[in-house]
Amino acid sequence: MTSKKRVLTGYRPTGRLTLGHWFGNLLNMRELQEQYEAYYFVADWHALTSDWQDTHGVRRYTEEMVLDWLAAGIDPEKSVIYRQSDVPEVAELTMYLSMVAPMSWLERVPSYKEQREQITEKDLGNVGFFLYPLMQAADIVIVRGDLVPVGEDQIPHLELTREVVRRFNTQYGDLLPEPQALIAKEGARVPGTDGRKMSKSYGNAIYLSESEEETAKKVMSMVTDPARKLKSDPGNPDICPLHHIHKLVAPDPADIAEWDRCCRVAECGCVAHKKQLVEDLNAYLRDFRTRRAELAAEPGAAWDVLDRGAARVRPTVEALMGDVRRAMHIDAER
Ligand code: TRP
Repeated sequence: MTSKKRVLTGYRPTGRLTLGHWFGNLLNMRELQEQYEAYYFVADWHALTSDWQDTHGVRRYTEEMVLDWLAAGIDPEKSVIYRQSDVPEVAELTMYLSMVAPMSWLERVPSYKEQREQITEKDLGNVGFFLYPLMQAADIVIVRGDLVPVGEDQIPHLELTREVVRRFNTQYGDLLPEPQALIAKEGARVPGTDGRKMSKSYGNAIYLSESEEETAKKVMSMVTDPARKLKSDPGNPDICPLHHIHKLVAPDPADIAEWDRCCRVAECGCVAHKKQLVEDLNAYLRDFRTRRAELAAEPGAAWDVLDRGAARVRPTVEALMGDVRRAMHIDAER
């Protein structure tokens, strides 16, 4: 038995990961696997809850995301990497939890209300979307997750999980572990090429696995300080997305201090700075990209890792579900 706590987190398969994911999640995931028993899963059923009208991408996006994880150094020897739908008991547990969870608790979840109001291009009136937070509770509990790294927006989901677990335990005996939030270290916010938050849906993303040429093209077209029209105008690095990204990837902080200085006094221009960022960013991502290309050339590399992960969670899942069924009198005993 290991005494390490088990950290668990899931991500929807959204396809190739961006530089925003690198600084927002991947570095943190890599660090957590050194300290904890890390469970990282692809939340493919969660993707269905909002994207049920177009499910074509799910399998391909799952593979892309796992390849990105592996190339980023999420190590399948250290971390358990699996796919939600390979653990069908998650659906069964979601159903049992749905018996004890009052509808009003789900209606109250802030992200539910917000997304119903704000996302108009998708039909989110389905029961699956409503059940989303309960399925998340099942994800966590089913492998006995102790700690869940969460950003601000996920705190209510974790609170709901804890409440549902307590209600279940009161009714059926103390079977389910109550997970805790691990307030995630605030990852760096990475601006996209247009200065807004980097996001696939804004079309402003730099993908980790894109080619050096693609990165170069994007960086050369990046927005800089909009008030700096001419090279002779002094610039303000504090509001320049180019500077922000450069700070994250420059090989030496002294380089940044110099670009900062020469921008403010209009000594250097944005084009020269862009060329430097192209060089530094491509150098920063080079090992990742080499490793990613090697993995992509190995047929089934991602699926093999997912299969092994699913096999590794099986004993925990079966033991827990056995207890749950027995406590609810849904077991095979005659
Ligand atoms: N809700 C998370 C998201 O949208 C994904 C997720 C599903 C998750 N199940 C989880 C996160 C369990 C942590 C724990 O990104």
